[in-house]
Order: sequence, then C-alpha cells, then structure tokens
Amino acid sequence: MRYLSLLLPILLFSEESFISHYEYGEMLYNNPRGVSCAECHGKSGEGKVIVTYQDIHGKEAIKGIDIRTKTLAEMLKSVRTYHKVMPRYYLTDEEVKAIYDYLKTKNKHYIESNEDNHTNKVEM
Ligand code: HEC
Repeated sequence: MRYLSLLLPILLFSEESFISHYEYGEMLYNNPRGVSCAECHGKSGEGKVIVTYQDIHGKEAIKGIDIRTKTLAEMLKSVRTYHKVMPRYYLTDEEVKAIYDYLKTKNKHYIESNEDNHTNKVEM
C-alpha cells in the first residue's frame, strides 16, 4: 500500500500530461531512437516486406513480422535482445508498454476478430 501511495502521484501526473498514453505510444512506435518499428513492422504492426533481393534460390525477401498479437512479455524480450535484422533497443519498461498499448488500441478490432477465429477454428 505504501508503495502504491508513492506511485499514485506519478500515475496521476502522467494521466494529465499534455499527450495521451496512446499518443506517447504512437510517437515511440514511429521514432524510437532513430530506427522506427514502423519501418519494419508496418504502420500498425501488421508487418511488411523490408527488402527483396535475388540470390541463387531466386527472389528472397526479408520481412518484418506481424506483431499485432504479440504479448507484452514477447515485446519486452524482443526489443532487448540481439537479432539478425531487428536492432536492439534501449527502451524502458514504460516505453515498451506504451508501444504495446498503442498497438493493442490501434488494432483492437483486428485482435478481437482474431480471437474469435481462434475459438471458432476447426482443426484440420
Ligand atoms: C530493421 C527492422 C526492424 C525494426 C526497426 C524493428 N523490428 Fe521487430 N522484428 C524484425 C524482424 C525481422 C523480426 C522477426 C525475426 C527476428 O526476431 O529478428 C522482428 C520481431 C519482432 C517481435 C516478435 C518477437 C517474438 O518473440 O516473436 C516483436 C514483438 C518486435 N519485433 C517488436 C518491435 C518493436 C516494438 C520495434 C520498435 C521498438 C521493432 N520491433 C523494430 C525487424 C525489425
């Protein structure tokens, strides 16, 4: 409880700050320290082709995957680890959470219909 009362002013303050949590997440998603998530994961996290190239196997593509249904834990882990394509980010928990919430809000309808699809899914 004591911890909560210490935290409360901060929560109240951020609630009243001039940009909303959604706008904050949007800003972070589009410009996190230089390399924007949107550049690889698309405008709303739906994923996109980053680059295509030709090699001995023919036409290949590097894709930023669809991250709309990723969990917060997956997102936190992903931004903090090294990958072949995706850069490592130094974002705080709050910043990642804001990005996560932004994508969840923006893709609310997609996520809901996706959940429906899962429950109605017929196993093949
Ligand atoms: C240069 C391109 C690029 C950028 C920029 C980028 N990503 Fe990614 N991301 C990828 C690729 C490619 C993958 C899939 C393969 C991998 O893990 O490297 C991925 C995977 C992910 C995953 C899934 C991890 C899992 O466990 O399945 C999440 C979540 C994610 N990215 C979030 C983000 C967020 C949030 C940002 C911005 C802070 C971001 N990415 C920026 C390319 C990128």
